[in-house]
Amino acid sequence: MSSAKYVLTAACVFLLTLALTEGGGWMEAVAQTTEPSRFPSGIRGLADGQDEPPSNRWLLGARDDDERFRRLQIYAGGTDQQMWQIGYRYEQVYQAILDENWELGAHHWGKLRNVFNVALMKRPNRTPNAEALFLENDWQRLAGALAAGDAAEARETFLQERQACIVCHVAEGFDFINQTPMFEETAAFSAN
Ligand code: HEC
Repeated sequence: MSSAKYVLTAACVFLLTLALTEGGGWMEAVAQTTEPSRFPSGIRGLADGQDEPPSNRWLLGARDDDERFRRLQIYAGGTDQQMWQIGYRYEQVYQAILDENWELGAHHWGKLRNVFNVALMKRPNRTPNAEALFLENDWQRLAGALAAGDAAEARETFLQERQACIVCHVAEGFDFINQTPMFEETAAFSAN
């Protein structure tokens, strides 16, 4: 791009930004609504579950504890809520093994198990696979290797546990989760 064209383009972008942020019309279109608060149509039973109008008191405003617990259960979600965190901690353990930061690895590996158990409390149908494939012997082996600072054993058992993640995703019908950088980039230690 010639420098004259560049200056012209930059000026246009600047003016457009100014128009969007200060100009009024566009901002008015997304201004806070003056319509009354209402519950989302995507969650059933909320309006029936309380006498007061919808407000920020989404929990205390419910009619009774049954409804409060129902709302909390919806809020707590399913396996995905914990898997999200498990994915993060899994990557941290991989990096900790590379860096030979054993305390960090042990920290994340312990938290990962706690979080996994929370997922299984919510979705106990997944417990048999999770315990057999992941949480029992192999989890212990990696915990032991991290505690001992045994690099070779930690690498080997980490890769076994990676395989357990992958096998379980296939078994539970979520194979597509395995086709992601999280699993591709942790497939070996030698390439790094
Ligand atoms: C019980 C078998 C099981 C094991 C073992 C398992 N997962 Fe999962 N994972 C699941 C299931 C089931 C889902 C989909 C949950 C859903 O969407 O309700 C999932 C989803 C995920 C997701 C996507 C979460 C999202 O954002 O929606 C990630 C990331 C993930 N798992 C990582 C891992 C890692 C890393 C491991 C191993 C350390 C692992 N999983 C071990 C069953 C398992």
